[in-house]
Amino acid sequence: MAPRFAPPSPEALPLHVVSPDSLDGWLERQPGPTAGWVRHAGFAAAPGATLLLPDAEGRPAGALIGRGSEAQRVRSRFDVGAAVATLPEGAWAFGHGLAAEDAAEAGLGYLLACYRFTRYREGPPAAARLVAPAGVDTAQLEAIAAGEWLTRDLINTPASDMGPAELEAAARELAEETGAAISVTTGEALLDANLPMIHAVGRASPRAPRLVDMRWGSDGPTLTLVGKGVCFDTGGLNLKPGASMGLMKKDMGGAATVLGLAATIMRLALPVRLRVLIPAVENAVSGSAMRPGDILTSRKGLTVEINNTDAEGRLVLADALALADEAPADLTVSMATLTGAARVAVGPDIAPFFTDNAPLAEALALAGDRVRDPVWRLPFHPGYEPMIELQVADLDNAPKGGMAGAITAALFLRRFVSESPRYVHFDVYGWQPSPAPGRPKGGVGQGARALLEALPEVLGL
Ligand code: BES
Ligand code: MN
Ligand code: ZN
Repeated sequence: MAPRFAPPSPEALPLHVVSPDSLDGWLERQPGPTAGWVRHAGFAAAPGATLLLPDAEGRPAGALIGRGSEAQRVRSRFDVGAAVATLPEGAWAFGHGLAAEDAAEAGLGYLLACYRFTRYREGPPAAARLVAPAGVDTAQLEAIAAGEWLTRDLINTPASDMGPAELEAAARELAEETGAAISVTTGEALLDANLPMIHAVGRASPRAPRLVDMRWGSDGPTLTLVGKGVCFDTGGLNLKPGASMGLMKKDMGGAATVLGLAATIMRLALPVRLRVLIPAVENAVSGSAMRPGDILTSRKGLTVEINNTDAEGRLVLADALALADEAPADLTVSMATLTGAARVAVGPDIAPFFTDNAPLAEALALAGDRVRDPVWRLPFHPGYEPMIELQVADLDNAPKGGMAGAITAALFLRRFVSESPRYVHFDVYGWQPSPAPGRPKGGVGQGARALLEALPEVLGL
């Protein structure tokens, strides 16, 4: 199933979008029975509230959807579009009241609310079909939603069915669909290819670690997306306690997000030369696991003391970023469920990002606001560089002290990139902890829509 709008049809029932302020005016223009029905129902135009409007035979003649007051609207997103997906069977089309600037959010909200994770249990699909709101770029919204659905499916699939090989297979399937080129380096071959930290993190699992390298496009600026693909993060020998391990199937959320974004970019045939790098590993426990105190020599040559085997994401990303850096792109993005500290700082809604490029940061923040994908810049604070430095090796993968954990992880990654103004790192959570409009509980993409929206400005497309 792919996210799609309904074809325009004269049979589509009208949706009237009203706010608490506009409701009275709207009611005055309605026939008496309609106005009476709405008043008796107590409809107050709260965000996402719906009310079916009957015709004389008791069949639906349309529906009201509340968009809430301005104060209510800033508290959530996608309410109007998600409300459409709850309506009864049939085609629906926005008529009265949807402001042009809200049309794209409403359309996307609908498509995102139609997402179901059906791999293990069928669920009823949304009954209502929405005709694309006037003025929106239908193909663009469908491509964005398709990318987001892919991201969610990949994250939601448990590690039992989403190991390194299955993550590779998902990338191969996408490459097949889009005509992208793909190469994969697996197991011992990682050592021959000088990707030692990807190997070290993944070697304890019977499911071989690998690096997926996908390329697409022949013209335009270059864009490299690097996604953390830790298919399950036990913590390694520094084993996570059960409560912290429970959700760690989502530790490939960065990979899932860049694959979703890549799918959107390729479907839209954006004029970029795209590269996607995914270190896909399982951070497991066995006799061959890397140990606390081990010192690894990275692809770049920097030595890294492993002071916590649970700080594995930065290790696999470091080798992938070093490889990316050998052919520097106009923009390199890393996307990772990298630290618990990021979640503590900004919670599950906001994607924190790091960059040394102020115009890029500004473009991302504005783009995120426009498309309702909230992002927030955190600093690559140079004053914390000593926290990742050690006496015996170049770098410490897990500084002690519990201070600034998202920043020190980001600083660690930056050591593997030569031109930091062309680099942005996202430390995402990748999971919607409780259902919200357009975002059922479960895997969720963050930052990808902000990036996509910012790309024309950032890359000069
Ligand atoms: N995958 C985790 C980070 C994570 C945890 C993201 C919970 C989202 C929610 C990562 O590999 C990790 O374990 N990081 C450690 C690093 C620490 C040992 C320096 C962390 O953040 O606690
Ligand atoms: Mn970890
Ligand atoms: Zn991890």
